[in-house]
Amino acid sequence: MRGDDPHPKNASHFSSVRCRYRPPQGGGESLVDDVWLEIGFGAGEHLLEQARHHPRTGLIGAEPYEGGVAKLLARLTGAENIRIYEGDAREIIEALPDASIGRVFILFPDPWPKTRHHKRRFVQTQTLDALARVLKPGAELRFASDDAGYLAWTLERLIAHPAFAWTAERASDWTMRSADWPQTRYEAKALHGPPVFLRFVRKPIL
Ligand SMILES: C[S@@+](CC[C@H](N)C(=O)[O-])C[C@H]1O[C@@H](n2cnc3c(N)ncnc32)[C@H](O)[C@@H]1O
Repeated sequence: MRGDDPHPKNASHFSSVRCRYRPPQGGGESLVDDVWLEIGFGAGEHLLEQARHHPRTGLIGAEPYEGGVAKLLARLTGAENIRIYEGDAREIIEALPDASIGRVFILFPDPWPKTRHHKRRFVQTQTLDALARVLKPGAELRFASDDAGYLAWTLERLIAHPAFAWTAERASDWTMRSADWPQTRYEAKALHGPPVFLRFVRKPIL
């Protein structure tokens, strides 16, 4: 995260997070080899597990729901590689440098099923453009949903997007989670139907 945030609207979010969670002070050396971003981490179970399994990876979690942020903060012990942004993930994506993120997770985003609310869905061509800018070539975008309508919406936009390629080769690639993909709270609820797991890669920049 940048200390000299040029976007005034982000300043209060950054400072409030800084007040509550101080990053460890390194001796100038890089503490992490890669940085991953989770969008809408809910109560943070997946973020925490990824951080514990990948101690040399920095995990940024963006979540506007204060109750979820509080739940994660209460369980953060031993995960010094997590940074929390309490706010809209689109703001932090805008503030990130080009090709700086190695993996992004969008797990069970709010489906907004009514047609008049589709514009509120996180996955939009504009958001994918922004993610394409910050993802490194070869970086992975992971998406999961149990909502058939949102799944179709997302596939349509990701397949059409020139920066992304779908990695699935067989049905089990999208019907089953891999071992390095911890279950989230919303997946456990499986309210709308069977969950689907998508992996897309950021194509090389030509
Ligand atoms: C259905 S919940 C899923 C939470 C978690 N990913 C899980 O699977 O348990 C969707 C979450 O996305 C968050 N969210 C909605 N819009 C967001 C945005 N623009 N940026 C970041 N998070 C957002 C909500 O606050 C909510 O916690």
